[in-house]
Amino acid sequence: MKVAVAGTGYVGLVTGVALAHIGHNVTCVDVDENKIDIMRSGKSPIYEEGLEELMNENKERLTYTTDYKTAYKDADVIFIGVGTPERIDGSANLDYVKTVVRQIAESIEKDVVVVVKSTVPIGTNDKVEEYLKKNVKKGLKVYVASNPEFLAQGTAVRDTLYASRIVVGTENRVAERIMKKLYSPLTKKPYKVPYLAMDRRSAEMVKYASNDFLALKISYINEIANFCENVGADIEKVAQGMGYDPRIGNKFLKAGIGFGGSCFPKDTKALHWLSKDLDCELKTVRACIEVNRAQKILMYRKLKENIENIENKTIAVLGLTFKPGTDDLREAPSIDNIELLLDEGANVKAYDPISIESFKKRIESKISHDSINGNIQYFETIDETIKDAEAVLIMTEWPEIVNYDINKYKTLMKEPLVLDGRNCYSLKDAEKAEINYISVGRKKVLIKNK
Ligand code: UGA
Repeated sequence: MKVAVAGTGYVGLVTGVALAHIGHNVTCVDVDENKIDIMRSGKSPIYEEGLEELMNENKERLTYTTDYKTAYKDADVIFIGVGTPERIDGSANLDYVKTVVRQIAESIEKDVVVVVKSTVPIGTNDKVEEYLKKNVKKGLKVYVASNPEFLAQGTAVRDTLYASRIVVGTENRVAERIMKKLYSPLTKKPYKVPYLAMDRRSAEMVKYASNDFLALKISYINEIANFCENVGADIEKVAQGMGYDPRIGNKFLKAGIGFGGSCFPKDTKALHWLSKDLDCELKTVRACIEVNRAQKILMYRKLKENIENIENKTIAVLGLTFKPGTDDLREAPSIDNIELLLDEGANVKAYDPISIESFKKRIESKISHDSINGNIQYFETIDETIKDAEAVLIMTEWPEIVNYDINKYKTLMKEPLVLDGRNCYSLKDAEKAEINYISVGRKKVLIKNK
């Protein structure tokens, strides 16, 4: 089939490349000329394992362009995979979706299925169809389908080809048939992805309900972890014991410093906003957001319990991205913590295996707006980063950090105080390494006065 995909972010680009891989001719559309040039040269503009290889493997079926008119005019299916960032009040900003829908209306010259892959508030697909029906050339038929995305960054290619499920919401037999045909290679061997057909509003809701449930699971385990510290229990053991119950499951029970990224923070706020707007507030979702807000700066608070005045102190931060395996910094806890440290005049030494350049840009734009007291330096090795630091904050569980020799903290740091927001080390190893080690939901390891 002839497919066009609007937006070449994580969702749009990975979808486009996966559809090309299963045999469709795909045109990826973006407004950013620079991104298009990068993709035309065979490179991926985002860091995602296996994506570049798949782009090159399927290059004869992939086109990249800013010319949306040509891409949309004779497509059988047009995917909308642009961002829906949060507005200041927490609601979803649909400006990019609206722009693409207008462009589709003015461009198409044949019947088409428009598939909304972006995460959008319940009822948006109905509005998109209403608008298109009114605004396309007379005689053309447009069907709108909701097809939420469940890929996670870092495993996006695998999550798309070997998806947990394909959810398609349609209100019309023609659209249902076309969508089934489009995805049929993925429902067969070797992929064998379950295909769920339903109405559009339910499909839209599956996305929010799934993401918010996972976010809730994280906030729940984080709150339980904080509670464990008060009662002398160990969250790692508690989570392990819980995970054996198949009704609970052992995934997403990793306590830490909260969820970040471009999805959970925005999707919890958007659903909560919608529920309040409809006067039926989702209180569990509200609690999940509140717990996460506090959890993100847990390590900063623990640092302050140990070093009250951090002005002019050297604090090392290991890991900047919101999780390992991605270069994405959106809603990363490192940002909140580093901003607080800089505000209080600390000298921050930062390390990340891949995101230093983009982090620099972020922090620099902040510095030019606010007056920040401390300063920040970046390093390419953990050794250099922790050297002579008075404390280390671990923000991301990159393999480089998890596998870093714990004994080096004592030899390289001024004071071996390690605040581990991702429980990278065992308490036994921390004890043996003779460091002050404070993690999440576990006992503190403190150097005994000899
Ligand atoms: C998430 C969902 O996992 C995907 O299913 C969904 O499709 C995607 O959002 C989306 O809506 O596009 P993603 O944001 O890439 O994917 O990342 P996750 O791996 O889910 O991690 C999110 C955050 O939760 C990270 O900050 C991670 O550190 C944190 N987390 C995750 C925990 O703190 N504990 C856990 O046990 C799991």
